[in-house]
Amino acid sequence: MTRTVYVNGDYLPEDQAKVSVFDRGFLMADGVYEVTSVLDGRLIDFGAHRARLKRSLAELDMANPLSDDDWLAIHRRMVADNGIDQGLIYLQVTRGNPGDRDFAYPPKDTAPTVVLFTQSKPGLADNPAADTGISVISVPDLRWHRRDIKTVQLLYPSMAKMAAKAAGADDAWFVEDGFVTEGSSNNTYIVKDGVIVTRALSNDILHGITRAAVLRLAHEAQMKIEERSFTIAEAQAADEAFFTSASAFVMPVVSVDGAAVGTGKPGPVARRLREIYLEESRKAAV
Ligand code: PDD
Repeated sequence: MTRTVYVNGDYLPEDQAKVSVFDRGFLMADGVYEVTSVLDGRLIDFGAHRARLKRSLAELDMANPLSDDDWLAIHRRMVADNGIDQGLIYLQVTRGNPGDRDFAYPPKDTAPTVVLFTQSKPGLADNPAADTGISVISVPDLRWHRRDIKTVQLLYPSMAKMAAKAAGADDAWFVEDGFVTEGSSNNTYIVKDGVIVTRALSNDILHGITRAAVLRLAHEAQMKIEERSFTIAEAQAADEAFFTSASAFVMPVVSVDGAAVGTGKPGPVARRLREIYLEESRKAAV
């Protein structure tokens, strides 16, 4: 089926959508993005993703091109036009096409480029990997130092995922100054003696929308949480490990750099948090 994509106000078949070769997203990775999941045809954590989009744009001195209502309406139309029951909506805003290549930002009145597309993923909420758990390797965190901005500079995460694949693992965790920052496209956690440990928010990591929701739900369920950095050795010695993201929700990690975590099977905390998150976020979906 040909997808309907959104480009600058138009809903088009994907093979008719066009973006300029001079677009700063293409030439400079000068743009931001969001990924929102869809369950039962409804948007998960949408308000929080939209709020983070606005923050990312503001941090890069880019105007927010659309109203809150328009963002919601476009997302909903993308779901409807593409018949998405379970899947993802990807949105990207770049600094647009100044008509030539130049390092300097173009004049403020240069129109941004706004693109949305969908990825249909039947069974997204029933990913079998959640029952088996996944394996990760560690790699040095060689990204820039404004990881709190969700930019489209995704080359290093791609390299890390390829390194994981080459090592026979499922994903990579970034390490900087001896501590895990986050996963290649997710926030990371360990559980030790009943305490959930996850790195505190700073410019070193993306402020995950799923992280915020899961920590709130964990708190409501009287679970203990410590926001602090942890090492790979701590993860290997933990009772459980897991990660969170809009595309994987809560995903158990059962092996870190070849060492089994806990029993080597998904643990009760990750399982419970996945269950609660899916249940509550479905109830609150829009
Ligand atoms: N990635 N950290 C990084 C580096 C990420 O790329 C992501 C999300 C997260 C989790 O954030 P959230 O819970 O808001 O999805 C953390 C998305 C899913 C992606 O690039 O596909």
